[in-house]
Amino acid sequence: MTYDVVIIGAGAAGLMCALTAGYAGRSVLVIDHANKAGKKILMSGGGRCNFTNLDTAPANFFSSNPHFCISALKRYRPEHFVELVERHGLEHVEKAPGQLFCADSAKDLLAVLLTECDWAGVEIRLKTSVESLERQGEGMRLDTSAGRIEAGAVVVATGGLSIPTLGASGFGYEIARQFGLEVTDTRAALVPFTLTSAWKERTAALSGLSTEVVARCRDGEYREPMLFTHRGLSGPALLQVSSHWHPGDELAIDLLPGESAFEGLAAARREAPKRRLSTWLGERLPRRLAQALVEWHGGDGPMAERSNADLEAWASRLNDWRIKPAGTEGWRTAEVTMGGVDTRALSSKTFEVNGLPQLRFIGEVLDVTGQLGGYNFQWAWASGVACGQAV
Ligand code: FDA
Repeated sequence: MTYDVVIIGAGAAGLMCALTAGYAGRSVLVIDHANKAGKKILMSGGGRCNFTNLDTAPANFFSSNPHFCISALKRYRPEHFVELVERHGLEHVEKAPGQLFCADSAKDLLAVLLTECDWAGVEIRLKTSVESLERQGEGMRLDTSAGRIEAGAVVVATGGLSIPTLGASGFGYEIARQFGLEVTDTRAALVPFTLTSAWKERTAALSGLSTEVVARCRDGEYREPMLFTHRGLSGPALLQVSSHWHPGDELAIDLLPGESAFEGLAAARREAPKRRLSTWLGERLPRRLAQALVEWHGGDGPMAERSNADLEAWASRLNDWRIKPAGTEGWRTAEVTMGGVDTRALSSKTFEVNGLPQLRFIGEVLDVTGQLGGYNFQWAWASGVACGQAV
């Protein structure tokens, strides 16, 4: 069997690359070891797939080579993808500013991609694994569970390491190393935090509670909701900040974003001296959280009895709550992988390996990782199209 292009990985990037190359007149085969294409698309965004972000910019991505993503993102923009899905009548909603989700189900989005692949003459072979990949003259040779395949070019679109039960594997990194490319350190990102057993006990009663915060870690700062879970801390603010976190780091959480707790408490002491601290807290925070804070730190007396030192201590608990997570939930629940195939060895226009144009890498397998909010899919589409046009 011989194809112009063989793409390993029938996920977001692989399918987008396949249909683009197919329309450009290439014979294209997509191979995936899973029993279904696009499994991550199906389970993303709570089953409705946050498929792009209208405000996508290079600043929304982390990479040790930050300029690499610019070219592809500029050439294939969110509006292009919206135009594609709208041609198929897919209805979508903007759940948060810029974040587009399927109005009904991510199944509709996957159907768009599979239909386009079909129209573009792309062949998709599932439950097929690659046993070896070798250079063969100007092309490549693959030995797979379905036999030997020859290809003009191979595109590795095997994604990151998150959620192994959905087909994730380190295969793309192995191929990169086999051909002498560097792979930067990988770690789970956009992932909930776990807490020590002492903190888990303290926060157990808060499980399910969500409140807006500013979460900070290293150079990351996000104002979004935080969610207490039975394992620890999650919600958009904490998922975002997990991309900056390294083991041993502390998180700084502002439970009263935009408000100086010290000034508020001092004003309350002046103007309503008989008021209890818990009442003041209860007006600003969810009631269960206000109660828990008073239980953890004690001293729910009238405001009049509070010293400046006491107000300062409370202000720092509220505006700058410091907590050291035990860890993260890891690959089991992480949405993405930070790090990956080092892009310095690739062309940002064509995604080919420098000096080896018959081998290319696209999507999440690369050291390009988006923030939460539809950016990771936009990277999959943009890198898939750039590569599909050139391959
Ligand atoms: P992707 O992981 O989609 O596809 C890789 C494919 O390669 C898979 O089909 C896999 O089976 C296959 N494969 C792997 N190893 C192989 C091997 N050895 N041989 C053959 N095939 C192999 N992003 C976003 O923008 N908005 C969102 O709403 C969400 N939500 C979300 C929820 C959850 C739960 C997760 C886990 C992730 C998200 N994401 C997201 C992230 C997003 O899903 C992710 O960045 C893209 O799917 C990456 O696309 P790729 O095509 O690069 O990899």
